[in-house]
Amino acid sequence: MTTRETLRALPVLAHQMPSFDPAGAPAEPMTLFADWLTEAVAAGVDEPHAMTLSTVDADGAPDARVLILKDLDTTGWHFATSAISAKGRQLAGDPRVALTFHWREQGRQVRVRGAARAADATVSRGDFLARPEGSRIATLAGRQSAVLADRAELDRELADVRARLAADPDLVAETHTVYAVAPTRVEFWQADRERRHVRLRYRRTERGWDRELLWP
Ligand SMILES: Cc1cc2nc3c(=O)[nH]c(=O)nc-3n(C[C@H](O)[C@H](O)[C@H](O)COP(=O)(O)O)c2cc1C
Repeated sequence: MTTRETLRALPVLAHQMPSFDPAGAPAEPMTLFADWLTEAVAAGVDEPHAMTLSTVDADGAPDARVLILKDLDTTGWHFATSAISAKGRQLAGDPRVALTFHWREQGRQVRVRGAARAADATVSRGDFLARPEGSRIATLAGRQSAVLADRAELDRELADVRARLAADPDLVAETHTVYAVAPTRVEFWQADRERRHVRLRYRRTERGWDRELLWP
């Protein structure tokens, strides 16, 4: 089979999916997101906290990668990364971002648009120290997104950091940064097998949140 034939033979949105009645949706998007996340976890969705973070670089060109959602509160959607990585530099130049969640098993997509803001250094330090040892070693050893000469350089750095961390367990990577995305728009998309998909968009206004349905 050609790649095209393989792709064309694959089913899409053909399985059983939950329904979503937008008439019963809450007044603001955080509550609905938290409900959908709880339902995704209960339904056994794989890595429901994995999301695509899209940014723009200094030339206005888009960039995107997968990250883990670390928290959700009144300040927004939280993620953690290196402030000196490619995305960290892009965020310093332009904080506007998009987050995309795809919960395949449920035919659900959530799109968040807004601005990412770095949390206080104490929050980032606390987040770093709460991470498993392996993750702390990887971050301490790393210059995320810099060019790596060869794999042996990585192994040397990891061994070096492992020894430093054994001597000083409270070592913190100062570049590790928690960001919160304050949302301006959040769209919930529920697939329907008959293609009567539901799209509900929340738009932030001066008064609070407006809700509107969109053509699928
Ligand atoms: C499932 C998954 C989860 C990831 N989680 C994170 C994360 O929480 N933080 C992070 O910095 N990178 C994470 N990554 C790696 C990023 O996708 C990316 O490769 C890295 O952050 C460098 O991106 P940049 O060069 O655009 O800065 C994850 C990758 C995958 C596939």
